[in-house]
Amino acid sequence: MTATGYRLPAGGLVALLALPLGAAEPLLPGDARNAAKLYRMHCSGCHAADGSATAIGKRLGAPMLRDPALIAGRTDDQLISLLLKGSPRHPAPGTALTLLDAADLVAYLRAGLPAISDLFPDAAAYTVKAYTLQGPALVRAEALVGEELRADEKALTVFSVYSGQQPPAGPRLVPQDPVQLDELSPKTKRGYVVFGRLPGGPVAMALGPDLSVVRLLSADPQVAKAAPAVVGKGGKGSGQRRPFVSKAAPDAARALTRLYARAAEAAALAAKEEADRHLFDAPEKRSSP
Ligand code: HEC
Repeated sequence: MTATGYRLPAGGLVALLALPLGAAEPLLPGDARNAAKLYRMHCSGCHAADGSATAIGKRLGAPMLRDPALIAGRTDDQLISLLLKGSPRHPAPGTALTLLDAADLVAYLRAGLPAISDLFPDAAAYTVKAYTLQGPALVRAEALVGEELRADEKALTVFSVYSGQQPPAGPRLVPQDPVQLDELSPKTKRGYVVFGRLPGGPVAMALGPDLSVVRLLSADPQVAKAAPAVVGKGGKGSGQRRPFVSKAAPDAARALTRLYARAAEAAALAAKEEADRHLFDAPEKRSSP
């Protein structure tokens, strides 16, 4: 299997959050309905019913909420805190929301969006960082695409994924904090995830440590058709990177080439940063003077 549809989270988050509060009964089917109602009441005025922004939301700078890179790039705690306490840039619904309401809303925000563990089921930890392509990286990406990238395509959010002891609540998002980043061993590196948007809908692409494509995830049937021409292809050297060609889904293959061209360069920047962080590790590997 190389490409599958999105999975809906099964309410595990809500059940888990309920435990410390002593609620023994599982909170299940009501949650989505509760969250939909809460969303309509407290959020859709700015974020619109579909997570795009209303006119007011746009004026305030509300982002596209159905963006898997945004949602996967936040921990449950971060989202719950935003919803309960607000932030300097975000209104808090005040006392109107309980912790369980906030947890329902977080599950609602995540529902139907691909998560890191959908791409790497053995993921234990991951980091997230946005990279802007410039200089030789941009030249290489544009050479693979065969034309200039649009301004908004030059930035890409990269998730770096690590295996190890899996936390019960799912992989841990490690903040961009030098000490915590240092603790992630490059030996446990599983690869990278990027998210993109094709005409048929969102797509998630996983790259291995060698920067070849290891998995695609999308609800778009064209992506599944193009997958055989994409998965297993690509690599570290620009000689290993050629446009994907699929007779079954030529347009999807072109769009995936475009995403891959950016992904490989952005992931290479993440890999370079990681290598620099670990430059002075493992002295036993160095020959002694
Ligand atoms: C008054 C308008 C408004 C309302 C109401 C509102 N938001 Fe927002 N939201 C914004 C704006 C503006 C931003 C961008 C600023 C920011 O990132 O904090 C944002 C950003 C966000 C983000 C991204 C935050 C991040 O970490 O990047 C999430 C998630 C979110 N809103 C969820 C919600 C949910 C869920 C509700 C309902 C409980 C809600 N918002 C209600 C205006 C609003």
